Amino acid sequence: MPETSTAKILTTESGAPVADNQNSAQAGIGGPVLIQDQQLIEKLARFNRERIPERVVHARGSGAYGYFEVTDDVTPYTRANFLNTVGKRTEVFLRFSTVAGNLGAGDAVRDPRGFALKFYTEEGNYDLVGNNTPVFFIKDPIKFPDFIHSQKRDPFTGVQEADNVWDYWSYSPESLHQITWLFGDRGIPASYRHMNGYGSHTYQWVAADGAAYWVKYHFKTNQGVRSLDAGQAAELVGQDADSHQRDLHQAIERGIFPSWTVHVQLMPVAEAADYRFNPFDLTKVWPHADYPLHKIGRLVLNRNPDNVFAEVEQAAFSPNNFVPGIGPSPDKMLQGRLFAYADAHRYRLGVNHTQLSVNAPRATTAQNYGRDGLGAANTAGRAKNYEPNSYDGPRQTDQALAAPTAVHGWTGTHAALAHAKDDDFFQAGELYRLMSDGEKERLIANLAGSIGSVGRDDVVERVLPFFHAADADYGRRLQAAVEAIRNADEA
Ligand code: HEM
Repeated sequence: MPETSTAKILTTESGAPVADNQNSAQAGIGGPVLIQDQQLIEKLARFNRERIPERVVHARGSGAYGYFEVTDDVTPYTRANFLNTVGKRTEVFLRFSTVAGNLGAGDAVRDPRGFALKFYTEEGNYDLVGNNTPVFFIKDPIKFPDFIHSQKRDPFTGVQEADNVWDYWSYSPESLHQITWLFGDRGIPASYRHMNGYGSHTYQWVAADGAAYWVKYHFKTNQGVRSLDAGQAAELVGQDADSHQRDLHQAIERGIFPSWTVHVQLMPVAEAADYRFNPFDLTKVWPHADYPLHKIGRLVLNRNPDNVFAEVEQAAFSPNNFVPGIGPSPDKMLQGRLFAYADAHRYRLGVNHTQLSVNAPRATTAQNYGRDGLGAANTAGRAKNYEPNSYDGPRQTDQALAAPTAVHGWTGTHAALAHAKDDDFFQAGELYRLMSDGEKERLIANLAGSIGSVGRDDVVERVLPFFHAADADYGRRLQAAVEAIRNADEA
């Protein structure tokens, strides 16, 4: 028996002492168990309720706290308070993740990585919910559930099916840029510390004088980009499913704090309308030659969460958590996400998820008239629960949060606006042509391995022309590699 001490008495959840935590109560030695054993019943009942729904995507992840420090003056571009002084530090929480795998899935897999950042600013929490890729597979939010279904387990076979993955992509030419990125050398990061992060979408910055800019965020790892090839990843994931979690946790515990240099690209709003492709199209990057990187700060992770469930599993990021001086762009995908996340949190964590410590503001306090609901910890005491009121309750500021965006035209289900040079393939071709010979070879091998395992001929026939359209050499080499695999399978 462990020694008992008066200082630390085991109690029930109501605080009453527990007499025996090793033997449950019975009706006589060898007899049936008694329902009056509060410790037994409470323990079993709580255990049954330990899990909450996992995230529908990005279920598997790792998190850490740290800070963002402003290194360069950005006050000409945004009036965001946390960016207003060089040297200013803001506490952050960052959750990394894979996308398709369920909780417990392996870390070292070919999949985009989530890069979700919460800045605890003095003007409320700012969430920048990005990925380690500057682009995405689709450009309309109405496609997201179908796209994700095609990448996750099949409802009948219960496993991920290459046929589903490529069947969907064969109807989604705009995915080719992201596919080329994903099957290239950066597709399997060696760890979360060794990859870049991107805001991916275009956002809006507004300066104190009202000048507005479209902005894209880039987080460049100071550890260097390191990736795994397909063979190394297969070996690692078999040996250690938790490799990325282990790496991040151990590095921080040992005082090896990962950091990223943060840059932005800035486009004056007036330049968007005539830019040669749609600057709000999430399947495209802005070439640095057009919009160079401006360094703005440094992100450092230096503290592990004390409790993975409380702080990582219950972390809730919402792209609609902005602060004054930063706002959304008309990117349709972003607009869809402005709804989807807080809705997911209300389902998964409940309406009071913003009161959990990892999600609550830290540099300021939330003051509003939202009340009650399941799990309400902060009931705001005796304060009035309506507004306007004559009791000196919190009031609106009458200060616009972001700049207005001009709109025109008719309502309707429109495809994203195409500019003069818009098409689905040219940036995939540009990315391919940037690659070294070795990189091209590995890209072709990775793609051919995946497309070669597709069973249906029509899917393969639909998807290969996309690669030809991006670059003649890309298409020719991939077609030959896919045919070699399929012919060998038939032989
Ligand atoms: C319309 C398109 C999208 C929809 C509807 C969508 C929806 C969702 C939902 C419902 C979650 C789970 C949230 C939760 O339960 O906590 C999620 C997680 C996430 N999504 Fe998206 N997503 C979209 C596109 C994107 C894009 C383009 C990015 C990156 C640029 C992204 C990055 C993330 C990240 C990083 C997470 C995990 C956040 C965390 O660590 O808790 N998503 N998404």
